[in-house]
Amino acid sequence: MLLKAIILIGGPMKGTRFRPLSLETPKPLFPVAGFPIIHHHVEACAKVKGLKEVILIGFYQPNDSLNRFITQAQLQFKIQIRYLQEYTALGTAGGIYHFRDQILAGTPDYFFIMNADVCGDFPLEDMLEFHRVKPTGTFCTILGTEATRQQSLMYGCIVESKETHEIMHYVEKPETFISTIINCGIYLCSPTIFEPLEVEFKKNLEQNYNSDYLTAPCSEMIRMEQDIFVPLASSGKLYVYQTSKFWSQIKSAGAAIYANRHYLHLYKKSHPERLAKNGPGKPQVIGDVYIHPSAQVDETAVLGPNVTISKNCVLGEGVRVRESVILEGAVLQDHCCILDSIIGWNTQIGNWTRIEGTPNDPNPNKPFAKLEAIPTFTNDGKLNPSITVIGSDVQVPSEVIILNSIVLPNKELSGCYKNQIIL
Ligand code: GDD
Repeated sequence: MLLKAIILIGGPMKGTRFRPLSLETPKPLFPVAGFPIIHHHVEACAKVKGLKEVILIGFYQPNDSLNRFITQAQLQFKIQIRYLQEYTALGTAGGIYHFRDQILAGTPDYFFIMNADVCGDFPLEDMLEFHRVKPTGTFCTILGTEATRQQSLMYGCIVESKETHEIMHYVEKPETFISTIINCGIYLCSPTIFEPLEVEFKKNLEQNYNSDYLTAPCSEMIRMEQDIFVPLASSGKLYVYQTSKFWSQIKSAGAAIYANRHYLHLYKKSHPERLAKNGPGKPQVIGDVYIHPSAQVDETAVLGPNVTISKNCVLGEGVRVRESVILEGAVLQDHCCILDSIIGWNTQIGNWTRIEGTPNDPNPNKPFAKLEAIPTFTNDGKLNPSITVIGSDVQVPSEVIILNSIVLPNKELSGCYKNQIIL
């Protein structure tokens, strides 16, 4: 059996809720648990027997960080990885139709489609087993999971037939409650999915031909959810496979902390060698902690739980880090304390300084509780409490407190800040 996978990586206009972190690196390459977000996707794909190629589709200009990622991941996972660039944002299905010849080359039996901005313990093999025994002519199986009624409104909502798991009704981000089964943004498709895609493409083409060419939208723009899934519901060609394993979107910086925690937790089983251990001459480690081998961490530092220390970071004496991601090249000087925060690339934190955020995690002790999406601002324009994010190349002086704040790159701070965006 030949399988492929497509990862939808979006482009520079996407990921705005992820600023300032996405100013430095394309969001799909932001590191969680020591590796870029889509490294975890590729790793899950590489485990599936028969999966020979991963195609990244997006509208980023090809760039060094993307090329570096592809080269490294190809070497590590020994599968072919390519980037195909859309000439403009073609939507969540337009790029797939546009690059159909490349996707169908070698006549794959099935292919996965994965949104880049999700994380999880992706049950790809289980989806395959489920999809293969569905009636001939089935187009697609969607990975679904259970959310609360309130959360469900922010996702694609699925009503299934309890006996067959056929999708009977699909509504994208409904205004009122439809179902607690939500679309995880992971699909397994048969090549026949190109039939409804072609119909949609031709319909757009006709409509645009008859409308004003200056204002007509791009004919190739197709949304998988509204244009394909909605009309296909109850046609007998669309199914849902439900998972209760860890899954979340990664839209905000707060979600990156959540993803970090859960991927570290998965390492216990999948990569125990990646988790730091206690021992003489080593920092004290509490719970799950990843330390890049090149990082210099003083033995009196205390790290964890749920901490990632990236490449070339330097952590001085008595440093305390909890529930945080410290990005490449950051320097944490003696006795500083970092809680529920992300510290940007090459940022310097002074002695005895305290950086602290508020996690937007409903229940950190319940391992797979879904993350609540809390808006950045309250209705009266105030910043909602959030994790603290310090952008890249920021200088934070000694003996200050930065609480629930977002600091843009290249700042030199001079005092304490609370609930502020520092531009
Ligand atoms: N190549 C490409 N081109 N990728 C795109 C484009 C595009 O024009 N537009 C979005 N994407 C990528 C994004 O980068 C992201 O990885 C994914 O497609 C989905 O992006 P959104 O369009 O922002 O949708 P969403 O995240 O709000 O909702 C989708 O995902 C949810 C699960 O996380 C929907 O599929 C929902 O139904 C689903 O519940």
